[in-house]
Amino acid sequence: MARHLITSAIPYINGIKHLGNLVGSQLPADLFARYQRGRGHEVLFLCSTDEHGTPAELAAAKAGKPVAEYCAEMHEVQARIAEGFRLSFDHFGRSSSEENHKLTQHFAGRLAEAGLIAEVNEKQMYSHADGRYLPDRYIEGTCPNCGFDSARGDQCDNCTKQLDPVDLINPHSTISGSTDLEMRETKHLYLRQTQLRGQLEEWIDSKTDWPVLTTSIAKKWLRDGDGLQDRGITRDLDWGVPVKKGDQDWPGMEGKVFYVWFDAPIEYIACSQEWVAAGKGSDWERWWRTDKGAEDVTYTQFMGKDNVPFHTLSFPCTILGSGEPWKLVDYIKSFNYLNYDGGQFSTSRGRGVFMDQALEILPSDYWRWWLLSHAPESSDSEFTWENFQQSVNKDLADVLGNFVSRITKFCRSKFGEEVPAGGAFGAKEAEVIAALSERLTAYQGFMDAIEVRKAAGELRAIWVIGNEYLQDAAPWSTFKEDPETAAMQVRFGLNLIRLYAILSAPFIPDAAATMLAAMKTEDSAWPGSVETALSALPAGHGFEVPENLFRKITDEEREEWQARFAGVRT
Ligand code: MF3
Ligand code: ZN
Repeated sequence: MARHLITSAIPYINGIKHLGNLVGSQLPADLFARYQRGRGHEVLFLCSTDEHGTPAELAAAKAGKPVAEYCAEMHEVQARIAEGFRLSFDHFGRSSSEENHKLTQHFAGRLAEAGLIAEVNEKQMYSHADGRYLPDRYIEGTCPNCGFDSARGDQCDNCTKQLDPVDLINPHSTISGSTDLEMRETKHLYLRQTQLRGQLEEWIDSKTDWPVLTTSIAKKWLRDGDGLQDRGITRDLDWGVPVKKGDQDWPGMEGKVFYVWFDAPIEYIACSQEWVAAGKGSDWERWWRTDKGAEDVTYTQFMGKDNVPFHTLSFPCTILGSGEPWKLVDYIKSFNYLNYDGGQFSTSRGRGVFMDQALEILPSDYWRWWLLSHAPESSDSEFTWENFQQSVNKDLADVLGNFVSRITKFCRSKFGEEVPAGGAFGAKEAEVIAALSERLTAYQGFMDAIEVRKAAGELRAIWVIGNEYLQDAAPWSTFKEDPETAAMQVRFGLNLIRLYAILSAPFIPDAAATMLAAMKTEDSAWPGSVETALSALPAGHGFEVPENLFRKITDEEREEWQARFAGVRT
């Protein structure tokens, strides 16, 4: 039995995520976790909310709530939606946890002892009206280069020139609009990542099996020079992990917190401590410490491509720099973007379908199937309502749903609600078994390799084989002359339903559970071979006709949803 540690990029606390966020990390991570559990391996699947930083503070202020209260509430909201999508986290933690505070401070202390922290005095824009230092992107003014009047402090969106807030003409705060800004001197900690370049390079070069998307981004940042700079890991904010060296105060850093991107990935580890604290596990070190049993763990991370530099460079710098035997990631699965109906999904502009809205209109399996079978792996992909309707109606309703319903209803009407006896599998069944065996090998290969779309394609092909068999065997005609053969065909079909439930569970867990329940079996062991799996339900075994597994999306619904989600959410 192998051991799989699986983490999904942890979603920001402010606001509900859209379907593009979901398919870029949490959902494929869940697919992989369910698959590995299904194969009988030991899995620890972790995710959390990413709670610190200016956006969280501002969102709380907008909601008129203290930030801690806002985060606690939003964590619950996200946790409920995650359940709605059947995301099977072993623990859904919080980066604001006590555990993460301690661990983040611990890492900072280790890095300081290793001589990898520099204290730097720098100038930052302070806004008197807002009572806070402003991150570059919260400052706008006129671009000194092109004259565009809403250039941000970090970059001009019009001429793309990289800017420094001091370059802007007539700068103002985008939070309050105030122009009462002042450059103030403030001290910050920098992680001397450039010291770790050699170690990092060696580590990334050793990852020859990583997806091209991951390594190309990692190498670009590593080699292009501006990627691997020493980076500021502290901020002048109230909400965050207070800057400390282990449990010691850090002179000169009073009142400051660690930068959200420093503490967020550390939460992957802290989350496992929260998992133990919640009484769900007993030993987190065997997952994370290579001196405590984690050397035989396979650690896989899931994330959108914008997160890759933080996971291939920054977080590994924290881990390597600590000089302690922490488990480094073995495989990083990254994703391109999912677009929405001719444009981008956008949280800030409320464009697209958000996770809560999706569940209001259809059950999670419908979304899971479409999103995973169209995962933006080799390139960006696009959600359109037409395509969604087509996939659901064809793959789920016409192919899988129809198969299950025809077999069970036919059996009930001719043989009653138990697996019929009689006959023996013949040439046609042997052919189906051979075809399925080949597909199953391919399916497993793609799932092992986390080739999500290709795996979905194999699963669909596996369903189609059953439908074609049924069409071809046509037990409803066979029955008239040869009820015994019809009984055998139906027995074969009922066993296929059980097999399909097991194989499909990572993609569509609810439908899979319904299928298994209808087959009145709890034996959901991954098939050793198709042949033996197809005699798991013996003659005389009871079953029932399940509710329709999937309903079709009508043209009226499609049009209605298209119109409903064309605007922006406020
Ligand atoms: N919150 C970040 C995002 O949504 C992801 C953080 S992943 C972690 O883009 F590694 F930093 F935890
Ligand atoms: Zn400009």
